[in-house]
Parts: sequence; C-alpha cells; structure tokens
Amino acid sequence: MPVTLDQFLADGAAEPGLAQLIGAVADACAEISALVRRGAAGEVLGALESENVQGEVQKKLDVISNDILLEACAKAPALAGMASEEMDTVHPVRPVTDEARYLLLFDPLDGSSNIDVNVSIGTIFSVLPVSAEAPRDVTEADFLQPGRNQAAAGYVVYGPQTTLVMTFGRGVTAFTLDPETDQWLQVIGAVSIPRETKEFAINASNMRHWAPPVRRYIDDCLAGETGARGKNFNMRWVASMVADVHRIVMRGGVFLYPWDAREPNRAGKLRLMYEANPMAMVIEQAGGAAYDGFGPTLDAKPASLHQRVSVMLGSAAEVERLQRLHEEALQPA
Ligand code: AHG
Ligand code: MN
Ligand code: MN
Repeated sequence: MPVTLDQFLADGAAEPGLAQLIGAVADACAEISALVRRGAAGEVLGALESENVQGEVQKKLDVISNDILLEACAKAPALAGMASEEMDTVHPVRPVTDEARYLLLFDPLDGSSNIDVNVSIGTIFSVLPVSAEAPRDVTEADFLQPGRNQAAAGYVVYGPQTTLVMTFGRGVTAFTLDPETDQWLQVIGAVSIPRETKEFAINASNMRHWAPPVRRYIDDCLAGETGARGKNFNMRWVASMVADVHRIVMRGGVFLYPWDAREPNRAGKLRLMYEANPMAMVIEQAGGAAYDGFGPTLDAKPASLHQRVSVMLGSAAEVERLQRLHEEALQPA
C-alpha cells in the first residue's frame, strides 16, 4: 500500500507545526484541483475586471485559488503570515510567537493563460521561518529572506493527474491525489533529476530580445549533432512554469525564463519569492541547479516582495553551462 501524505507527515517528515501547515496547503490544493476539474461546469473559468499588483489581468481562478489557500492555511497554528502573487501586501494571520513561527508564500494559480484552454496549471508554495522576541505582527521585511532559508517548498500540478512535489530540505518526494478517495498517495520517495539532458524549455518567440549568453546557449542546442554540443536537442514550452518544471523533475531538462530586452529594467518575468525560489529549492534538492544570471537563485537577497528575477534551472550540467556562458560574457575581451 502506498504511504499517504497524512502518514508521511505524521511519521516525522517535518516537525509537527510545519507538517500541519503543509497538510493545510495540500488540503487547499485538493480543493483547487476539484474546481479546476469542474471547469466551465463550476463557473470558474474566464477573466475578472481586476488587475493584480503587477498589472496582470486576474482570472477568476487566480482569485478563487488565492482565497482557498488563505482560508485553509490560516487554520495552521504555526503560521504567522502569508504573501501571494495576487495580493498587494502581506497578510498577517496571528502574531509571531514561539508557536507561530512560519510564513507562507504562494503563486495560487500558475499558468493563468492556460486555464481557459484546458492545459496543465498549478500552485507553487514556499515556507520561510520567522522569529520575534515579543509577540508582534509580521511585516514585509520578515519575508525578504534568501530562498536558502526556506523550511519547505513545493508545487502542485493540475494536469491529467494532480501531483504534489515537495521538499523539507532533505530530498524531494511526490504524491498523487487519488480522486476516488481524495487521498494524496506517495508515488516517488526520492526524486532525482538526471545531470545530462537533451531537452530545453524557453519561449523562443522572444529570441530577438535575449542577452548574448542565452542566445549562444540556445543556438548551440539548435545546432544539434554537428554543432558544439554534438547532440540533437528537443524543445518543450507549456507556458505554465509548474508543468515545465514538473517535466524536468520527472525526466530532466532545462527551463529558462531569462532577462530580455523587451523591458530592460525588469530583471525577468517570473517572481523570485513565489516562483523562482520554491522551484529552485525543489530542483536543487533533486540534484539539479538554479541560476539567476549572477549566482545560485537561492542565494539572492530579495529587495521587495514582488521582485522579478531571471530564471535558469534544471539538469545540473546545462545550468553549469549557462553559468559559464554568462561569466565569459562578463570578462573583458
Ligand atoms: P502566472 O500565470 O502565475 O502569472 O505565471 C505565468 C508564467 C509561468 O508560469 C510561465 O512559465 C510563463 O509565465 C509563461 O510566459 P509566456 O506567456 O511569456 O511564455
Ligand atoms: Mn506563476
Ligand atoms: Mn499566478
């Protein structure tokens, strides 16, 4: 019999406060999964008239998923506050105390452009520690920690199956939601990403805007067997980070959403706190690597909650190559 998530958490995968919080995240995601599956029948598709703090049009499911996570996770006594891609400011839950010592960050619905066309979407989450000498409400500054501090991170992909992939910093494990029993069942005990790959994921429509090292990297991949790489590459782009990262977690590959010259003052499209950091922790814990154009993603010190970042992650050999190309580009000729 496969291990259930409840058994896994009760068996000491994490300390009880953190285990309870992750249980609440999983409950919320099971609820979101049920709504995703109902689709138009549940009247959850389509856009709203509102925009989020980043000026992106909100889909109904962005807001519904955000509300479900807020409600379910507030019940976890170890949680002091939350922050989300879909909320302007931090959301205090209860004062920080010895008991309430975690912060939860999430991208409630990743891959919004895919909701209405019935393509895989997901939820991404990150847990950070917080402490205080005397009880006090959380502030934005409490959240601005490098990803290296994360106590837990993971994602749920709502695809042909609903799968939860997560880490407490001691490897990565995966659970699939059994729709017949509504139980999460462990499907992989220890995820391992192959070091080498022949598959890359990037939105190639932005090619003319890329920085030279990214352009060089992809040109070499495209040159195939007779080029510098000496092998043929395959390309995939779902346009849901969760789905693209999940494929890499399962069979290797490299995912890039790098800085590009469309908006030169923007570090990248994806968000450091809700997307890059949790995915970087999962990827590193599964043996891969994550790089932001300057150093390991997990070492970046965030300056603001909704900060964007350049993302390159996946099979270690490819990310190391990208890093070398970036470093060479910085050297004086
Ligand atoms: P979100 O739906 O949370 O805003 O994230 C969408 C992100 C990410 O999931 C995906 O990799 C990327 O945007 C796709 O962007 P393009 O449409 O530019 O390819
Ligand atoms: Mn997203
Ligand atoms: Mn989102």
